[in-house]
Amino acid sequence: MKKIVLAIILLSNSITFTLKADEGMWLPIFLKALNEADMQSKGLKLTADDIYNINKSSLKDAIVHFGGGCTGEIISDKGLLLTNHHCGYGQIQAHSTVENDLLTNGFWAKNQTEELPNPGLTATFIIRMEDVTAKVLANITEGMSDAEREKKILENISTITKEAVKDTHYGAYIRPFYYGNEYYMFVTETFRDVRLVGAPPSSIGKFGGDTDNWMWPRHTGDFSIFRVYANKDNKPADYSKDNVPYQPKYVIPISLKGIQEGDFTMVYGFPGRTSEYLTSFAVDMIQNVSDPAKVKIRETKLAILDKDMKANDKVRIQYSAKYASIANYWKKWDGERNGLKKADAINKKKLFEQDFLAKVNTDDLAKSNYGNLLSDLENKYKSFSNYNNQRDYFIEAILGIEAVGFAYSYTAVIDALSSGKKAAEIQKDIDRLKSNATTFFKDYNATTDEKVCAALLKLVYDNIPKNEQADIFNEIEKKHKADFNKYAQSIYSKSFFTSEESILKFLNNPEGNYKKALKDPIYLLMKSCYSKFANDVLPQYNSLDIEITKLNRVYMKAMRELVTTKKYYPDANSTLRVTYGKVDGYYPKDGVKYNYYTTLDGIMEKENPSVDEFIVHPKLKELYNKKDYGQYADKSGELHVAFCASNHTTGGNSGSPVFNGNLELIGTNFDRNWEGTMSDIFYNPNQVRNIILDVRYTLFIVDKFAGAGYLLNEMKINK
Ligand code: ARG
Ligand code: ASP
Repeated sequence: MKKIVLAIILLSNSITFTLKADEGMWLPIFLKALNEADMQSKGLKLTADDIYNINKSSLKDAIVHFGGGCTGEIISDKGLLLTNHHCGYGQIQAHSTVENDLLTNGFWAKNQTEELPNPGLTATFIIRMEDVTAKVLANITEGMSDAEREKKILENISTITKEAVKDTHYGAYIRPFYYGNEYYMFVTETFRDVRLVGAPPSSIGKFGGDTDNWMWPRHTGDFSIFRVYANKDNKPADYSKDNVPYQPKYVIPISLKGIQEGDFTMVYGFPGRTSEYLTSFAVDMIQNVSDPAKVKIRETKLAILDKDMKANDKVRIQYSAKYASIANYWKKWDGERNGLKKADAINKKKLFEQDFLAKVNTDDLAKSNYGNLLSDLENKYKSFSNYNNQRDYFIEAILGIEAVGFAYSYTAVIDALSSGKKAAEIQKDIDRLKSNATTFFKDYNATTDEKVCAALLKLVYDNIPKNEQADIFNEIEKKHKADFNKYAQSIYSKSFFTSEESILKFLNNPEGNYKKALKDPIYLLMKSCYSKFANDVLPQYNSLDIEITKLNRVYMKAMRELVTTKKYYPDANSTLRVTYGKVDGYYPKDGVKYNYYTTLDGIMEKENPSVDEFIVHPKLKELYNKKDYGQYADKSGELHVAFCASNHTTGGNSGSPVFNGNLELIGTNFDRNWEGTMSDIFYNPNQVRNIILDVRYTLFIVDKFAGAGYLLNEMKINK
C-alpha cells in the first residue's frame, strides 16, 4: 500500500498543493481513521479514543467553547476553567471601576464566595458529534432550484436537531462542511453560570499590548481563570447563589516537565473560520485587492485615533478597547497579504489548478462534469472582486465613521415616525435608543470622529470609481469642492447625532423632531451611502457569493474525487477540531532564526517604564531578581514564558489547551506569528507557528506572583 501511495506521489510531480506537514484541523470523530497512526509516529503516546469517545470520559469532555468565540479547558474536578486573558477581557473589564480596576490590578478570588458571576457568559461542552449528511440531504434532488434546496435543507436540519435533543437539556446544531458536501451535527451542553476566579494585571496578561500582538518572540501572560457552576444535579442552570462547582467528566492533567524543540504538540479547540480550498482567483483578490484596501482604511483610522489618544487622557481611555480591536485585524491582514506573497500562494494554486484540469481532461465524465468549473469561477471572480471591494469600503470606511453607524441605528424609529406611527407605539425602541446613546457617548469623541470621517470619505472618493460612489459624493464635490475636512466640519457642527445632549432632546420629543432628523446632514450622509450599498452592491454581492459557493461545492467534490494524493480536512467553522504539530522555531527572514521559547529574562529586556505596554510589575521584578521560580523553572534554571509550535490554528483557538504526547497540558494557545497569519488561506509550513503560553508561567503567576497557590490544590499536577 505504502509503495503505491509513494508511486502516485512521484507520478504527480507537479502537485505542489499536497498536504504539508502539520497542516489540518481535524474532526475528532475521524482521528482514528485518518490521523492516529501519523500522530503516534510523531510522538502521541495515547490513542484517538483517549481524545474523543462517547462511551467513556475522554479529553473532549474537558474542552469548552468559551463565550462562543474562544476555547477553554477544565483543569480541576471543581470546574476550574483556563482560557486567555484576552478571552476574559470583557468580563474583567465589566467588573472594573476606577476605584477597583481589575484590568490594571488583576483579581484573585480568595475563596469560592468571592468568585464573580458574569451574566451572559457561557461554557459549552460537546456531548457528541455525528455525520448527518444523508439525513440533511434527504429529498434533495438535482432539479430543485437553489431556494427550494436551501429551504428543504433547513427543514431537515430543524427536524434532525429537534429529534436529537428531545427530552434532554442539550442543544444541537448542524453545520455544513466541505462547502455543503457534508453535514455534521454537534450535541451540546451549555453552562450559564461561569464565574471569574482570577486574572493577572494587564501588565502581565496584556504585556506587549498591540505592539507585540501577532508577534513572536512573545512575552504576554495571556491567561485568566474561571469556574463553571451547575445546579445541585450537576446540570446547567442560570446564576444562583445556590449553584455549586461543576463536576466535570474529565480533568486535564498539567505537566511541569517542560518541552523540547521537536516535541509533539496537539491543540484541541474551536477554530473559527478558514478558507483553504479557494482558487487562485480568490487568493489573488484577497492578496492584491481586499487585504490592501482594508489595511489602508484601518491604518488611516488608527493614525488619527493614535494621535488623539496620545494628546488627551480621556480620549485614550475612551478609545483603548476600540483601538485594540481595529488594530488586531489591521495587523492580521497586513501579515496575511505579505505571507501569501512570500509563500507564492497564487502561483502554487495556479499550478495545482493546471494539474487538476489535466486530470479532468483525461476522463470524459469528469470533463463533462468539471470541464468548465475553473473558468466559471474565474469569470465570477471578475465581477465579484469589484462588488467585494465596494463592500469592503462600505463596511470599513463608511461604517468606520462612528456617527454614521450610530445614525443608522435610528433608521427604524425615524421610518416608523415618518409613516405616521405615534411615539407611544414604539416607546420600547425609543427607550432602547436612549440607553444605547448613553453607552455610545461614554466612549465617543466627536472631534476625533470628525477627522476620521473626513479621512475615510476621502479614501472612498479616491479609490472607488465615480459611477459607483453614493450620490452624496457628487454633492461634496460641488458644494465643498471635494474638501472633505470642510465638509466634515460642517456636518459635525450641525448634526444632532454627535452629542448626547442633542440626541436626548430628539428622543424626548421624537414626533416633534423626526422631520429635522430627515434633514440632519449625518443622517443624509448615512442614507445616501446606505441606499447605494443596499441597492447597487449588496444584492449583486450576495447573488455572486451564492453562485461561487455552489461552484466551490462542486470544486471541492471534484478535488476529493480526482486529486487523491491529498488528505482533505474541512475548513474551520467554529466546530471542535484537533490539530497537531511540533515545538519549533523558524526563520522569519533571511539570516534570522527565532528560538522556540521565551523567558522572563526577555520580559526584563523589553521593560520600558515610559511605555504603558512594557511596564513590568514590581512584584514580578522582585521574583526575577531573587530568581524565585520554584518548581516552575526549566531544567536550565530559566523561567519559560511562551513557546511556538507548528500547529495549524486560527481565531477561536485562543484559550485552547496545548498537549504533549501524554495528553498532559503544557500550555494555552493565544496567538499566531505575523509571518504565519496567511494560514487561514494558505499554510506555509516554514512560516506558520502558533503561540502558546507555557503552563509553568501560568502557574508561577498564580502561585508565586498572585499568592493564589490554593487553586493548585484542585489541579492534577505532574512533576
Ligand atoms: N491576535 C490575537 C488574536 O486574534 C490576540 C488579540 C488580543 N490582543 C490585542 N492586543 N489586541 O485574536
Ligand atoms: N488570537 C486569536 C484568537 O483570539 C488566535 C489566532 O488567530 O491565532 O482566537
